[in-house]
Amino acid sequence: MKLLRPKIIELQSIPHPSGVITVAESTRDFPFVAQRVYFLHHLSEESNRGAHGHRNLCQLIIAAAGSFSVRLRGAHGEELFVLDRPDKALFVPPMHWRDLANFSESAVCLVLASDRYDESDYVRDEEEFDRLLLGH
Ligand code: TYD
Repeated sequence: MKLLRPKIIELQSIPHPSGVITVAESTRDFPFVAQRVYFLHHLSEESNRGAHGHRNLCQLIIAAAGSFSVRLRGAHGEELFVLDRPDKALFVPPMHWRDLANFSESAVCLVLASDRYDESDYVRDEEEFDRLLLGH
């Protein structure tokens, strides 16, 4: 799992005259079982979030409303993703440093995570993260 690459996953959308349903189903649409959902909202355009890596956690990040950018850095290098549609999800494997920025007005960042919250899974020091990455 640790050497997996980040990737954009197109989610299924079911149109309806009065709105759209977009679906993300564990193991069918993304490669883990979601044990936690959280979302970032009331963000300002100056907000910078993330600035950490996870040792084991997998995540699926979705711009449920609005748009924002996610910069990921891992064993395969650095990539910038712009999430600007609710049906365009970003799979983030373990051991990726992430920086979220450029939030549009009223953006909502929805995150599905493979485990419950565990602070010991976070790597919040970038130098420590780089040392751990070299060891993988
Ligand atoms: P953090 O994951 O650092 O936020 P972000 O990556 O969005 O900038 O979490 C911010 C704070 O919220 C931190 O004190 C941990 C806490 N937190 C929880 O208690 N439970 C959770 O599920 C999450 C994601 C964060």
